[in-house]
Amino acid sequence: MQNREKFGSRLGFILVSAGCAVGLGNVWKFPYMCGQYGGAAFILIYLVFLAILGFPIMVCEFSVGRGSQKSCATSFRVLEPEGSKWHNFGYFGMAGNYLLMMFYTMVAGWMMYYCYRCLTGEFTGTALTTDQVGEKFNAMLSSPGTLTFWMVIAVVLAFGICSLGVQKGVEKITKIMMLCLLCLIVVLAGHSVTLPGAGEGVKFYLVPDFAQMKEKGIGNVIFGAMSQAFFTLSIGIGSMAIFGSYLDKERSLTGETMSITLLDTFVALMAGLIIIPACFSFGIEPGSGPSLIFITLPNIFNQMAGGRIWGTLFFLFLSFAALSTVIAVFENIISFAIDLWGWERRKAVLVNIVAIILLSMPCILGFNVLSGIQPLGPNTGIMDMEDFLVSSNLLPLGSLVYLMFCTRRYGWGWKNFIKEANAGHGKRFPEFLKGYMTFILPLIVIVIYLKGYYDMFAPKGKQYLIPWMIVAFAFLALIGWFVFGGKRKEGK
Ligand code: ALA
Repeated sequence: MQNREKFGSRLGFILVSAGCAVGLGNVWKFPYMCGQYGGAAFILIYLVFLAILGFPIMVCEFSVGRGSQKSCATSFRVLEPEGSKWHNFGYFGMAGNYLLMMFYTMVAGWMMYYCYRCLTGEFTGTALTTDQVGEKFNAMLSSPGTLTFWMVIAVVLAFGICSLGVQKGVEKITKIMMLCLLCLIVVLAGHSVTLPGAGEGVKFYLVPDFAQMKEKGIGNVIFGAMSQAFFTLSIGIGSMAIFGSYLDKERSLTGETMSITLLDTFVALMAGLIIIPACFSFGIEPGSGPSLIFITLPNIFNQMAGGRIWGTLFFLFLSFAALSTVIAVFENIISFAIDLWGWERRKAVLVNIVAIILLSMPCILGFNVLSGIQPLGPNTGIMDMEDFLVSSNLLPLGSLVYLMFCTRRYGWGWKNFIKEANAGHGKRFPEFLKGYMTFILPLIVIVIYLKGYYDMFAPKGKQYLIPWMIVAFAFLALIGWFVFGGKRKEGK
């Protein structure tokens, strides 16, 4: 049995975990969701979910990781009471990590491609119209070759870094990347808020507009904010737990989780502060949705003094954010094979490079050859479905499993969880949260989950609502089996 590698430093653990959290969720989804859902009103709900949902669940994940010293593939098997079914969750968590990467690698590739395009002056120095910028984005989407090329670069680069090991690869490179990212944010936000007319954007960003939120449907906004809270923290599929498994018992986990959550929130809020005031400054609506950073922003850079350099730095920032997550999740994926079958790191890397490239293809083809497949309704594609399955299903429901495992007597149990979370110096976990985490939090997740499904599919008609509600209940039944299946003995 090989010895489990550990992080070299506390900062390494915090930055790698924050790197896993900080990603497209912060720099791409969060700003466009803010733009669509009423700016500050959406932010308020999102922050509440981070505090009441995200934070305690992340402590649960880290505790399970550190307590078992394994990735989610085998961690439940190590800690569960004999005869229970919790260990089957390992497959669910593994599927979540793969599914996340099936679209994430492609979008990470877009970021790198746009960084390259800005650097070579494709969006600046010429009199491009808005339509032409849009056409460039659409031309990229309709070319499977271009999409595949940049996806493969992202995959090979990130796996290459993981192949160097936890300390020499993942920790070393992510630390550098995250520090550069934090510097870039400050420079970019400083520039954006000082653009002429940016004040209106700052106001939109800071003053809640509940009327716009109502227009979007409160249910949709709440479901969106909850999904986004899970997505941005990468919780529920064990992508954080793995980093707990590389930790020693020197520091308690509550303080570390706080630092990671705050860092992630800081990056999301700053990303919005970079993008939204710039939109207002150039008289452009920030509510354009997912195309916001690929069409709206290049347009802005096109009009801006020094746009080529600002655009390049902006997409470099985005590429770092995306790659730090890809590296972290790949580390997880590699550790599945190491934990399950005792593979060498090299073998796990090589097999998974091929696997991830192949698995990323449906999403790429969904924008061109397979664009007729619209599983969530008109104008949706394969990527939307993959994102929906991960963000709105596997992450919240997986979080539910972690939560119940750590609070139920017939799981790992509250006592074991608290002992692990509090091992080491630093903040203690607030124990008065026991009742809330055992009974109220699971209920909140289930109610919002079902209500969100209903609100999302009911307006699209019965042909969508019925099959998707069946999917929702099937997922819940599966979770019920992990939790209540088998003999319900007391935990170890
Ligand atoms: N937490 C990752 C992100 O925000 C998945 O992109």
